[in-house]
This record gives sequence, C-alpha cells and structure tokens, in this order.
Amino acid sequence: MPELSFTEPYRDFELRGWERAAARYGDSFERATLPFVEPLLGALGLAAGMGLLDLACGTGRLSAAARDRGAWVAGADFAHNMLLQARAAGVPLVRADAERLPFRDAAFDAVAINFGVHHFPYPLRALAEAHRVLRPGGRLAFTVWQSPEINPTQKLVFDAIRALGGGRPELPPPPGGGVTDAAACRRLLHMAGFAEGSITIEAVQAPLEFASGRALVEMLRRGTVQTAAVIDAQPDYEALVAEVERGIERYRDGATLRVPAQALLARAVRA
Ligand SMILES: C[S@@+](CC[C@H](N)C(=O)[O-])C[C@H]1O[C@@H](n2cnc3c(N)ncnc32)[C@H](O)[C@@H]1O
Repeated sequence: MPELSFTEPYRDFELRGWERAAARYGDSFERATLPFVEPLLGALGLAAGMGLLDLACGTGRLSAAARDRGAWVAGADFAHNMLLQARAAGVPLVRADAERLPFRDAAFDAVAINFGVHHFPYPLRALAEAHRVLRPGGRLAFTVWQSPEINPTQKLVFDAIRALGGGRPELPPPPGGGVTDAAACRRLLHMAGFAEGSITIEAVQAPLEFASGRALVEMLRRGTVQTAAVIDAQPDYEALVAEVERGIERYRDGATLRVPAQALLARAVRA
C-alpha cells in the first residue's frame, strides 16, 4: 500500500467523512449513485475479458456489476471502511489515494470513477494517474454531480437553509478547484493527457423517489460528507426538515416525490 499523507485539510476532512459514512452509505446516498453504474459501463464499452479499475469504488457496486459482465476488476478507495463494505463485490481491493495509484503503467483497459472526481483534492493529478494506468486505446469514464446550486436534490436543502437564515460552516475548500461543469471536465481531461477529440461529455438524469422531505435530508446526512457537514451545522434540524418538506412538494407526482438528479458523464480515450 502506498504511504498515505493526510496533512492537507481538505483530504483529511474527506477521508474522515467517508470513513464515518461508509457503514451507512449503502442504505443512503448509494441509491443516488447506483443508477449511473450501467451508463458508465456502457460508456466504457466494458465487455468480458477486459481489465477495469473501479477508482473511488466505495461499497463496490460498480465493481460487482463489471465482474458480472465478465471483466476482471480491481477496486480502489482511500477509505478503509468503504473497502470493508466493498468486500461483498468479490474483487481485489486496494487502499489507495486516487492521486497516487499503486499500479504499473498501462495496467488496465478501462478506468471508471463513479462520483469520485469532485472529491479528490487535486482532480487533475487523479485523472493523470488514470491516464497513466490505462493502456493505449483504453477508456476512462467518470460521473460528477452538476453544481448543488442547480441540482435539485441538494438545492432543496441549501434553499431551505437560506430560507431559515442559516449559514454554511467553514469547510476546507478543494485546493484543486471544483468539478461541476462540462468545461471543467473537458479542461481537466485534456490537461491530464487525453486528446481533445476523444473527449465526450453528456448530461444524465436519474430522478430519485422519496417518501418525504425528511427521507431526502436523512439520505444526505447519512451518506455524504460535505452536505452532511452543512446539515449537521444547522441549529434546528427539525426546522430544516420542515422547510424541505415544503420545498419538495413541487416534485410531487401522486403519492411519490420524484426529485430530478443531474450528473455529467465524461468519457475519454488514451491515445
Ligand atoms: C460519493 S462516494 C462514491 C462511491 C462509489 N463510487 C459510488 O458510486 O457509490 C465517493 C468515494 O470516493 C472515495 N474517495 C474520495 N476521495 C478519494 C481519494 N482521494 N482517493 C481515493 N478515494 C477517494 C470515498 O472514500 C468514497 O468511497
């Protein structure tokens, strides 16, 4: 295992957060990321016999789906507790930071990163590592959320906080910048070594159904790091839930609350 350095506040904050969230991730936020597994594997053209790295593998659901397609798969994540959850996937798991991968050059046919890139302190370093471990002609595909300011699931919570006059706690900013729009994805992929013409970025929607506003807040509180910290910093949790209950009504569809969720799926090929 490479030596991990957690001296940077953002990396440290993220690591602690994911270690804490790991046990409850499968029952909470994972249901927001799961619908993107098949689109990612499709974007990679993953087929039997191919070698895939599932980077920031979390509980290993993408690893398991890729294994079921007949690929040989390795999962990597920097959170020990996530890897404990991922054991059920039945693939080799490595504790590693995305910015320093313990794999040889050109080791994989494909790299998938489902909702990891925007958590890395320096996404460019991680994408350069993904490029390095891909064989020529190998494909990278990743998903990131569009900005919380326009992404309804999180926007409901942030709007509620604003309506209540609440503030956001001081959290360590990502030192390498945020990744929430197509221009940032494209720029980072290009800088990481992927040819401009090989890059495609598409928006993908996967609405989430909730029984109540409380269920939405609980999902974010249990299964995220940044948003959970914002929620936990609010002085009156019940007032926040009540405000989200009001806001979420605009997404009512009969007995169900269907809240859109928007992600970007980026794909690139190593020359
Ligand atoms: C939102 S979860 C996504 C997990 C999984 N890929 C999924 O689709 O549900 C983000 C994951 O990224 C991992 N992660 C965050 N920063 C990382 C880093 N620098 N290196 C490796 N893993 C990291 C976290 O431990 C967590 O498992």
